[in-house]
Amino acid sequence: MRTIDWVDDAIEIVDQTALPATLVRVRITTVDDLIGAIRRLAVRGAPALGVAGALGVALAARTVAEAHLDAAVEQVAGCRPTAVNLGRGARRAAARIPDGAQAVLAEALLLRDEEIAASAVMAVRGADLVTELCGQRPTLLTHCNTGALAAVTGGTALGVVVELHRRRLLGGVIASETRPLLQGARLTAWELAAARVPFRLAVDSAGPFLMALGQVDGVILGADRICANGDVVNKIGSYAHALGARAAGIPFIVVAPESTIDPRTAAGSGVDIEERDPAEVLSYHGAEVAPRGTPAANPAFDITPHELITAIVTDRRTIRPNRGERP
Ligand code: MRU
Repeated sequence: MRTIDWVDDAIEIVDQTALPATLVRVRITTVDDLIGAIRRLAVRGAPALGVAGALGVALAARTVAEAHLDAAVEQVAGCRPTAVNLGRGARRAAARIPDGAQAVLAEALLLRDEEIAASAVMAVRGADLVTELCGQRPTLLTHCNTGALAAVTGGTALGVVVELHRRRLLGGVIASETRPLLQGARLTAWELAAARVPFRLAVDSAGPFLMALGQVDGVILGADRICANGDVVNKIGSYAHALGARAAGIPFIVVAPESTIDPRTAAGSGVDIEERDPAEVLSYHGAEVAPRGTPAANPAFDITPHELITAIVTDRRTIRPNRGERP
């Protein structure tokens, strides 16, 4: 199953807002519909967003009048600000616009294929590293969703988890639920169950305590942007898990393709952290969870400083930020 693809002259996605209740594929034929799907997280996760950006420009090249094409590219590139892959994918495809719509599509499909290949390589490299750093049959804590749903196939951190399970070298997984939109509970739990990986779901705040209790041997998660100094921007809650891992003395491992590394941003402090609708915090599935009128903060991502990161595994290399290595 591909989370996102080009099918019969349109973009096809798995609508992640419908999971875990229903697995539905949605056909997207306009740039506006794609932007809407990205904003409501029907398609999400850094590698998948990169492909969405590129395919969105391919769609624009076919459907948008030339006079409006640059604006459409910028709208696609900027409809979520934090994951570097989205803008990068859109601009990479847009660079082929002078060669015609077919060339733009070819570039987008190439990017899709590169992400599929990157996931496969990271799974193997990451599994080797986890065994080295966390020992035989570790219990790993993961945050947000980094499986096939966040990529095209395979995934990043969750791809490593599934590979360890395949090798019979995994003890189990603790998936943190990932408030407010529950990517861990809705999506990671769904993917782990489908892969028959043993896991337990925990509220986000349980992570550092379970680490302190000795119930976690390592933390493994993905990234939305990796800065030049090795700071990692990822789903809100990642930083707390990194602090917990440091306090417990266990490895904190980030798995992300090279396409998530942003050498132009020196440090995490320079990243535009998406602030989302307060309604996501104040209610769930239409039910209010706080008194009406409660103000809310809703940063979608946080920054884990490089000193707290044991390793970043990409499709090309392993970087050790806390030993002074830089991407
Ligand atoms: O807001 P989301 O769901 O798009 O956030 C996704 C994450 O933070 C993932 O951890 C990250 O993109 C890595 S995906 C392999």
